[in-house]
Amino acid sequence: MDKINIGIIGCGTICNSAHAPNYKNNEKANVKYLVDLKPEKAEAVKTKFGFSDAQIFTDYKQILNDKTLDAVSVCVPNYLHHQISCDCMSAGLDVLCEKPIAISYAQARNMQETADKYSRILNIGVVNRFDVYVNELKRIADSGRLGEIYHVYCSFRNHRSIPGMGGWFTTKNMSGGGVLIDWGVHFIDLILYVLNNPSIISVSGKTYCELGKNMREYVFENMWAGPPDYKGTYNVDDFVTAFIRTDGATVSLNGAWAQNIVNEDMTIEFLGSKGGVKLRYRNDFDLTVCENGKIETITQHCEPSDAFTLEIDSFLDSIKTRNKSRANIDNVIKSQIIMDAIYKSSEKNSEIVLR
Ligand SMILES: NC(=O)c1ccc[n+]([C@@H]2O[C@H](COP(=O)([O-])OP(=O)(O)OC[C@H]3O[C@@H](n4cnc5c(N)ncnc54)[C@H](O)[C@@H]3O)[C@@H](O)[C@H]2O)c1
Repeated sequence: MDKINIGIIGCGTICNSAHAPNYKNNEKANVKYLVDLKPEKAEAVKTKFGFSDAQIFTDYKQILNDKTLDAVSVCVPNYLHHQISCDCMSAGLDVLCEKPIAISYAQARNMQETADKYSRILNIGVVNRFDVYVNELKRIADSGRLGEIYHVYCSFRNHRSIPGMGGWFTTKNMSGGGVLIDWGVHFIDLILYVLNNPSIISVSGKTYCELGKNMREYVFENMWAGPPDYKGTYNVDDFVTAFIRTDGATVSLNGAWAQNIVNEDMTIEFLGSKGGVKLRYRNDFDLTVCENGKIETITQHCEPSDAFTLEIDSFLDSIKTRNKSRANIDNVIKSQIIMDAIYKSSEKNSEIVLR
């Protein structure tokens, strides 16, 4: 079987932790190009993962004319997802674009239309859809054991975790937003996946830029995307609260990159008429059921597996089969509609009705 030739565009954190190692370990893939504005970052990936045949470029347009190239991973800052993904698809390439899809629903919709126009696979890095606990919880919910799920309570609040203050993550025109678009997208997507993609009726939310707005006054313990750049910009949300009505369950969420609380709280609770689940994000869950006149809680254990490995494998499968997987843009675009509506609701101080 011929290997699938891959280009990785953007050789930063997520390339190093997820895309490069999983292409390297997948016998279906051959990494042919590594692209980064900073060639030393592409060189470092080439050396670290032993991509001895990979060529290095600083401009992704230089790889688009290679007819033997099949697909790319787009691992650049959010504001570049739209342009780079569309250019790659127009050139005949399949795309795995990191989350969030883009910095607005309008851009995301245009990416979906471009995928349709050029008959391309466009997957998004919705890695939780490949998480073993999320899938076990979805199986239980789909089996009816929880009864009707009427509410989802979601918290993605950390004590101190603003990424790369002053860099692209905290600059709205590069990131599209703060904690909502960076972390919230993962949680909203996970919830929509478990609830089988309900229709969204309305959204109400408020975003806050509080702890980081005076960058020099922000007291932190670590900063995982590089040291603060005090000459840079911080104009994004570090806290969000929202309420979402669907044609099924309602959803309430609170998220914070940083908050004056003692411990982080990264949990999602699915409340059903017969049972409930408390999922510890990227971890296990407690299942509480009322059965045979008794209330019982068990902690679910699953065989560990790497969700990023499954995400990359699913992308390579879709390239071969042309089937749209659970990570295809058609199945995940609603999270961008919800995030746009939360930002709009916050700006207008009113509920946004979507249906
Ligand atoms: N799925 C996840 O859990 C997860 C985790 C982290 C990041 N991400 C997403 O991955 C994307 C990248 O995040 P990151 O943390 O790796 O960022 P990063 O800043 O570490 O890496 C981005 C890289 O892109 C390069 N770059 C910038 N502009 C470029 C261009 N025009 N052409 C080529 N390269 C360019 C930069 O030099 C940098 O090396 C973001 O969209 C982010 O939201 C996803």
